[in-house]
Amino acid sequence: METVTYQGLEFEPYLTREQIAAQVQRVAGEIVRDYPDGNPLFLCVLNGAFVFAADLFRACELAHAEITFIRFKSYEGTSSTGRVREIMGLTEDIEGRDVIIIEDIVDTGVTAYQLRQMLLERNPRSVKMATLLYKPGSLKLGTPPEYVGFEIPSKFIIGYGLDLDGQARNLSDIYVVKS
Ligand code: IMP
Ligand code: MG
Repeated sequence: METVTYQGLEFEPYLTREQIAAQVQRVAGEIVRDYPDGNPLFLCVLNGAFVFAADLFRACELAHAEITFIRFKSYEGTSSTGRVREIMGLTEDIEGRDVIIIEDIVDTGVTAYQLRQMLLERNPRSVKMATLLYKPGSLKLGTPPEYVGFEIPSKFIIGYGLDLDGQARNLSDIYVVKS
């Protein structure tokens, strides 16, 4: 794998598609173990989580699983604005449901915290979060995600759904900004 350049920033290979696939399978195994006969509602946080959600949802071989989508935006360029905007709301009734939020990455935790608060107001039975990537060193708010693919240092990454201002989501591997 070679370095890639977006907006004048150079990125180097960080996690291969094989490493990602292995962690998706492990996380799916944990979810299936925790919801053996349930019908959890997966809630994919767009845009970034769509690639991970597609793989994770299919890897969770639960007979009655469902998925829906919500859209948030907080990043501009390579840093969080600290404000989260809901762009596309939740249409499903989640009262009494087991909800599993699917995130691409938990960075400051602001998005995760706000989303959990919003969901809890609607009386679900439970709310947990599955994220492919977690930057524990950046967490400012809320609780750590329950299901984590990889814990990573606080560096900006792209690929496998993660973007730099809308680009690089279609890379099959994950790249980290060169320091
Ligand atoms: P948080 O609210 O700071 O936890 O950030 C949540 C959102 O910021 C994630 O869902 C991503 O969309 C975006 N984000 C955070 N870190 C990165 C990164 O390293 N690369 C690309 N997007 C990121
Ligand atoms: Mg996101």
